[in-house]
Parts: sequence; structure tokens; C-alpha cells
Amino acid sequence: MAIARGSVQHTLPEDFRTLVSSVLMPGRCAARASLNEREALRVAAHARFHTPTAVAFPYARTGLHAVLSAMRLPRGSKVLMTPINVGPMLEVVASLGLQTEFVDIELESFGPDLESLNRKLQESPAVFVLTYLFGYVPNVSSIVSACADADVRLIEDFSHNIGSSWDGRPLGTFGDAGIFSASMLKYVDGYNGAFVIAREGQLGERIEAAAERLNAPSPRRIQGRILNSLVWNLALNRYVFNLATYPVLALIKAFSRQRFNELLGPSISLDLELDELPAFYFEDIASIQLRTILRHLGELDELLRIRHEAAMLAHDALVEVTASGAKWDFPHPNHVRAGQTFWQFPIRVDDAARVRDVLFRKKVETGTTNLMDLAEASGVSLPNTRALKAEYIFVPLHRHLRYRDYVRVFRALSSVG
Ligand SMILES: Cc1ncc(COP(=O)(O)O)c(C=O)c1O
Repeated sequence: MAIARGSVQHTLPEDFRTLVSSVLMPGRCAARASLNEREALRVAAHARFHTPTAVAFPYARTGLHAVLSAMRLPRGSKVLMTPINVGPMLEVVASLGLQTEFVDIELESFGPDLESLNRKLQESPAVFVLTYLFGYVPNVSSIVSACADADVRLIEDFSHNIGSSWDGRPLGTFGDAGIFSASMLKYVDGYNGAFVIAREGQLGERIEAAAERLNAPSPRRIQGRILNSLVWNLALNRYVFNLATYPVLALIKAFSRQRFNELLGPSISLDLELDELPAFYFEDIASIQLRTILRHLGELDELLRIRHEAAMLAHDALVEVTASGAKWDFPHPNHVRAGQTFWQFPIRVDDAARVRDVLFRKKVETGTTNLMDLAEASGVSLPNTRALKAEYIFVPLHRHLRYRDYVRVFRALSSVG
């Protein structure tokens, strides 16, 4: 049975129903989210994060724009960022006349390298945008106190880490604001959509005001997102993947490796030459998106439980295969136990591209992160970030996989050496 890299966290009937209602009732579905729906988000976010402010946005990038604008930073202020993210996050920083500096990551928890962070904090940045990766949890206390000592504000992008915690406290609640992208494949996936959580006070009020200034959503764009989700959901369904998607991908790969890579590679590009940010970044979140986010927030704990079980099974299989001689860096038992959520299960290999090829031949389609190395795109080379892109591969986790399936994946991996 062929194995896909991931799955959409919606059921097929859910995507199908949503598509039908968005076509039959575009006025209702693609209307701006209502005040009641926004209040329901505030209540749900308060229950989970204990923050008073939760504001819905169409994209995380729009949320970042709102938070940075709300901070009223003078033009030319430095924004420190961890470099793995989508291009538009960088476009937003540049569009506000702010200057980006990058801090390298470490390869244990994929958080910022503390030495590199402390060095960069000496250069008086105004704010640090910290993106947690793959559900892993870095030493948040050290990061928070380093920022506080340097008097640098902290924005957390916890799109990969919803449900993760440090010392029992949810990620996203340590800084001035936390941003979550509900884009496809996330644990909470709202056909795009996003939300920002923040403490009470002026910053929260300004973020709310920014959301009120957004334009009406376009029904066509919303329908496009739902259709896209349905198509991927179908293509990644275990049976469809085995019978149709994998054979089609194999054909495409045989004829055009470039097309294959385009299809499975990053879908969001970076354009630093933009005079103006695209107008759709500033279209309000639609009712159907916020209702989907609310539904999946309600199901998050059960999803986290299932995901944890899958990760434990994979981890045990990995330990078994490793005992027979294979040597990899893989999730440390501390991470397995700590408040992390295994949005991905990365494993270090010598050459991710080669391993990916071998696994594909053995009917396991996976790869490395599709997020960009924004430092490299800006002409800055950071060794650990480069290593993450070149030497880490994601082990697919699925609720339908059994112990023997994971053993098969790891044996295939170990056959590459
Ligand atoms: C960590 C992270 N941050 C931000 C984003 C971008 O979010 P959006 O497309 O909602 O702007 C993504 C998208 O995949 C992401 O993975």
C-alpha cells in the first residue's frame, strides 16, 4: 500500500458539503464572519489559551501585518525572525518599511539557536518573530527571558504548534501576540483563515481595529480554497492515493521531474519586488472559514491524542530498526513526552533528496519542509537552517498506519544508509 506524506484534517464529506453550500449559498458562506462567530472564537480561544483577545484574519500574513502595524514601529526598525516560513511573512515585514534580520535555528527542537539569538538581540531589534516548527517545543523560558532582558517584543507564530505547551502553558501565549495560520494540512484548517491572540490592552484593541478595516471576501476565492482542499483531501485519501495518486505521480516523475517537484513543492512564493501587497491579503475572513476553524478547534484535543498515539508507534518502530544498526537523529524521548504535538516527525538523513527518491520508489511519498529558507532568499546563509532543508525528511504519520508500516518505512530509510 502506498503511503502519502500527510492528510487533510477534514473528512471528505465535510469538504464536499462545504463546497456544495459555498456554491449554492455564496452570499451566506462567503459573507464576512458575523459578530457572533467572532465572539465564539474569542470564547473558544479564551478557554484554550486564557488570552482575552482573539481576532480572526484571512491569513496569518494579514495577522502579522496587523500586529506589526499595531506596534507602531518606526520605519527602518529591525525585525528579527527565525528563517523558516512562507514568503508572504517576509513581504509583510518589508512592506511596512521594516528591516529583517535572521536568527539561525537549532536542530534539536527547531527553535532559535540561543547563542545566535542572544548575539542578534544585542543589535537592538524592535521585535522578534519566532516561528515554532513541526509541533516541537524549544526552551521557551530562555527565549522569553532573553527577549525581556534585551527589551525586545516577541511575536509567536504557532501555526505548526497549536496544542503544544511549555511548562503547561500553551505556545502562542508567551509573547505580545501569537499568530495561527489555519491553512491546509494544519491541525485546525479553515480553508485558510487565521487568528491572532493577544493580551488585553492597546495592542489588542489596535489588532481588532485592523481586522475591522478589512475588505469584503471574494466568494470565488473562498470557493477556490474549498475546492483545492477537496481535491487534495481526495488525492491523499489512503485508498485513492494507493490506486490513483501514487501511480499518476510515478508517471509524472518518470516524464518530468521538474513537474513532479513543482506539484509537490512549495505552493506559496516570495516576491520582494512588490510595490504593494496583493489586495486579497486584506479581504476579511469569511463566515464559512471561521465556522470551520471553530469546529476544528472543538475537535483539536481528540486529534492531538490520535496524533500522539501514531507518533508513539512510529517512535517504537524507529527504536526497533535503530537497534538493528541504523543511526539517525530522531525525536528525543524528552520531546516525545513533553508538550509537543508531532505535526511532523522529521528525521535527519545524509541527503534528503536522495532518500526521498528511494522512499518514493518504495511507495512512500514524503519530503522535507515546503516552507522557504527566507534567510537564503535574502542572501544570508545560516548553517542549521540549510541543514534542515537538505538533511531532514518527514516520516508520514497517519492514524491508519500500523507498527509494521512504520517498520517498513524505517527499513526503507535504513537501506539508503
Ligand atoms: C509556520 C507558518 N506560518 C505562516 C504560514 C502562512 O500562513 P498564511 O498562508 O495564513 O499567511 C504558514 C503556512 O503554511 C506556516 O506554516
